[in-house]
Amino acid sequence: MSSPCFISGLGMHLPRTLVTNSDLEHIVDTSDEWIRTRTGIATRHFAKADEPCSVLAYHAACKALENAGMTAQDLTHIFVGTFSGDYNLPTTSCLLQDMLGLKGLPAFDLAAACSGFLYCLETARAYACMYPDARILIVGSEVTTSRLNFEDRTTCVLFGDGAGAAIVTGQGNPGRIKVVDAMLKADGSVGGLLTIHGGGSACKPVLGQSIGPEYFVEMNGRDVFKHAVRCMVEISGTLLERNGLTTDDIDLIIPHQANIRIIEAIGKKLNVDSDKIYVNVDRIGNTSAASIPIALTEAEASGRIQPGMKVLLTAFGGGFTWASALLQF
Ligand code: UT7
Repeated sequence: MSSPCFISGLGMHLPRTLVTNSDLEHIVDTSDEWIRTRTGIATRHFAKADEPCSVLAYHAACKALENAGMTAQDLTHIFVGTFSGDYNLPTTSCLLQDMLGLKGLPAFDLAAACSGFLYCLETARAYACMYPDARILIVGSEVTTSRLNFEDRTTCVLFGDGAGAAIVTGQGNPGRIKVVDAMLKADGSVGGLLTIHGGGSACKPVLGQSIGPEYFVEMNGRDVFKHAVRCMVEISGTLLERNGLTTDDIDLIIPHQANIRIIEAIGKKLNVDSDKIYVNVDRIGNTSAASIPIALTEAEASGRIQPGMKVLLTAFGGGFTWASALLQF
């Protein structure tokens, strides 16, 4: 990649309803103790009916624009990573484009589950190379609760809703964060371990027929856990190596926030102390494509990231897809 690419602004938004583990005890056969010890999650936010994916994305986008010192009219493209958009059609990116009043601006959704934001970032990096004056809004936005089976305790306690956004710019508009490098991977051969089959062309909805559990997230948690750790460790190591770096050179790692045990396992295998790993899974749960941009926005806004720092992002999700990116603040 020859042309430099930047992040000029970051923003996040969480829906207003906070849900505790005790709240979930009233819905499924679970306990605060099980959820805390097996996942590290204590609370998460659930979106109400007036907070669909596009609305969460809109709020995060407005904050990212403000953070970048831009207005919506400055944008050239919109990419949204999500598996829980408002509808199958229109796409969430088109709904967002309309909300921002940007008729004509190219907008598309990108489906890479929890890696969706990093897939958007790498796509934006390629666009910024083609169009050095590009100012691309990328958003990870999810209402995961719209695709959760609240009779399945093995999945419904893990996820939350939210959105995070970034403004990616090319060399025509250098920003405060340089995207040094990024890498994407996928493996469809094991995609069956984490699915939402219902509603697709191979699992069609039938008019008048009630829907079953296949319309919601179904997961073999133990196997996904193992793949998640191995893939995020491998891709992070490869990305660092091709940039002549080791984890000693990295000031903060922001991994996908799915489970504190996954995060701790990554830290152990990468030989990184816990104080160099950003964690918010305890407060926010797994927000899929929104996880990385929410954590990144929080980490910078709280002062955890300072100018001059190198930050490594890594994500893993359904598909399977996984990715890493290296940022220089
Ligand atoms: O975003 C990317 C994709 N997602 C992930 O990365 C998630 C990856 N997987 C995980 O985080 C973990 O595998 C889970 C948190 C999903 C599960 O943790 P685990 O330690 O692998 O538990 P398990 O699936 O082996 O289940 C242990 C026990 C089972 O009972 P038995 O069979 O031992 O009697 C489950 O039925 O825990 C039971 N269990 C629960 N108990 C209370 C499962 N879910 C719950 C629950 N509350 N919510």
